[in-house]
Amino acid sequence: MAKDTVVSVAREGDIAWVEIDNPPVNATSTAVRAGLARAVAEVQGARAAILVCAGRTFVAGGDMSEFDRPAEEPHLPDVVRMLEDSETPFIAAMHGTVLGGGFEIALGCAWRIALSGTKFGLPEVNVGLIPGAGGTQRAPRLIGMQAAIDMACSGKLLDATEMERLGGIDMIVTGDLRSAALAFARDLPPRPEKLRDRRAEALDGEAYSAIAADLRKRAKGQQSPLHNLEALQWSALPFAEGQPKERALHVELRQSAESRALRYAFFAERVVSKPKAIQDIAPRDLNRVAIVGGGLMGAGIAMACLSGGLSVTLIERDAEAADNARDRVAGLINSSVKRGKISKAAKAEMLARLTPTDSYADAATADLAIEAVFEDLDVKKDVFARLAQVMSPDAILATNTSYLDPTLIFEGIANPSRCLGLHFFSPAHVMKLLEIVRTPDTSAEVLATGFALGKRLRKVSVLSGICDGFIGNRMLAAYRREAEYLLADGALPHEIDAAMRAEGLPMGPFELQDLTGLQIAWANRQRQAATRAPGERYERIADTLCEMGRLGQRSGKGWYKYTPGARTPERDPEVEGLIEDYSASRGIKRHGYTARQIADRLLAVLANEGARIVEEGIAERPEDVDMVQLHGYGFPRWRGGPMHLADAQGWENIMKTMHLVADESPDSWVLADRAKALAPC
Ligand code: NAI
Repeated sequence: MAKDTVVSVAREGDIAWVEIDNPPVNATSTAVRAGLARAVAEVQGARAAILVCAGRTFVAGGDMSEFDRPAEEPHLPDVVRMLEDSETPFIAAMHGTVLGGGFEIALGCAWRIALSGTKFGLPEVNVGLIPGAGGTQRAPRLIGMQAAIDMACSGKLLDATEMERLGGIDMIVTGDLRSAALAFARDLPPRPEKLRDRRAEALDGEAYSAIAADLRKRAKGQQSPLHNLEALQWSALPFAEGQPKERALHVELRQSAESRALRYAFFAERVVSKPKAIQDIAPRDLNRVAIVGGGLMGAGIAMACLSGGLSVTLIERDAEAADNARDRVAGLINSSVKRGKISKAAKAEMLARLTPTDSYADAATADLAIEAVFEDLDVKKDVFARLAQVMSPDAILATNTSYLDPTLIFEGIANPSRCLGLHFFSPAHVMKLLEIVRTPDTSAEVLATGFALGKRLRKVSVLSGICDGFIGNRMLAAYRREAEYLLADGALPHEIDAAMRAEGLPMGPFELQDLTGLQIAWANRQRQAATRAPGERYERIADTLCEMGRLGQRSGKGWYKYTPGARTPERDPEVEGLIEDYSASRGIKRHGYTARQIADRLLAVLANEGARIVEEGIAERPEDVDMVQLHGYGFPRWRGGPMHLADAQGWENIMKTMHLVADESPDSWVLADRAKALAPC
């Protein structure tokens, strides 16, 4: 085949081959669409045309970099229609992941065959879109409404076996795809009716409402699952009516704030995993990790490392604590088995790679040690001194501290270029975020190894410099501080929580504190008391709650009260009275805030703190800040993150709100120099 274009056509007797070769994933770029349109003309006269893709996958989606511009001709719906109308019938011969536009192309072909293991999806929903080339119209006609809903509204991937069961593909190939496709083409079954001429059944009103309600609940403000459901319903209309409606909505959604934010998040995840500090630096190989401290975090980190194929030595204070730590990890593995995530055989194999111990000597052969002991400087320093004695002089040493300064923790350690922070989030085997904290001494190779570890553990790793709380907890502290100012000035906890939930956050700041417990932040505020800026406003409502033993859900009450055994926060007149008395005792005349005012302030504070973090060089770029918020703090992905949101809404508006915030709490807020923070890196 001639390889001078991304789509080439060749003949083998009376069969035509059409091959797409557009690395890395054969996306439906303008060149591919134009090439396919040309190929349809070229194959006429052949008995059948086989559509295949070079490389690791069939067409795995659209070219997202084209989505910011108006769509260029030929448009994909027209190309799919050409395939469908071609006198020479097309056979899609697929492998890898057949996604989005790729699946729509396959739906235009007369037959579909696929290598075993091939996966199919309509993931447009994940970037705030609906399919734009007949996906929502042809899929229900082929595989039925329920399966089409799973694919288009939830972005679920179906594998070849499932697809065959649903009648979506004509054959699964276990051997060589191209030979099987050729054999299929030489012995063609009767040509089936075009999908667009088939009928699809719409959901009845009741079923539609039930599914829409479920999607709405799960989507937490994201609109695209509902848009997909709406478009799927149009498949019951004649194709000539339904398809233009689908296309129009697809084109409109490309401009939506939601789709822009989701596309931004998609690219940002890739950007943050390659910080400038480690460009072109090769990581070291890691095989054995020593984890010191097998409590809540240590056990989760061990689970993550075992899942990533590493051997783990888990060091505790004494034999009994080591046994408990082992049980904790085994408990996490067991619950993964119960949820069907890993097999019983995999469980045994994972446990075989875990060595619980109370002897630091067992860390001798580890390439990396991660410390997750109590948040106490002396305890941590002692741990590293002991590790340094037994481990090789260049073994990597990492601390999981949340707030302590890693340079103090590593003081006195020989060869400090091997030291860094690996800040996991709880539960460590579940949460996607890993903050990789560099000290002034950390070498690029050690940082690169941290990022390679993050990738192996399937984390989104973000580079952070050193400041109190690093990127994430520093922003959380700013957010909570403003929330408490709002309490003192006139808002109540449930109003603030509701305002933030309405913005798409899974929880507001006070219900979140009740869930995670108030004591860690309390201890932290006590630690910070000595260094707090003299004029900074300090409200001690949270401290009062802690002193009253209201430490959150685990103590039965916190900002809210809880019916024993239940987890639903209930407003507590005692707390609300306490807040009102507190304001009075401080001479504050309470005034109301609308939900919009509350959310604007808290979002502005997040953006402002994020901009300062970039300005100070703690984060390399705004994307780092946003990915921390998305993957560590539940900020809704469909809003991109506080920095993206501020960009979309205009920083001048954020700064206007910040001036209001700063007016009410003078000396408490340092306003970001937005120009510096957002200068291109
Ligand atoms: P934890 O109290 O559940 O576990 C600490 C474990 O360390 C205990 O099992 C204890 O027996 C063990 N330990 C203490 N001293 C030791 C020593 N000298 N040698 C060996 N083992 C020792 O605490 P948690 O929550 O797991 O936190 C650990 C670290 O992780 C802290 O630095 C914390 O700030 C940090 N962190 C905690 C997060 C959380 O959500 N809990 C999130 C991110 C970081």
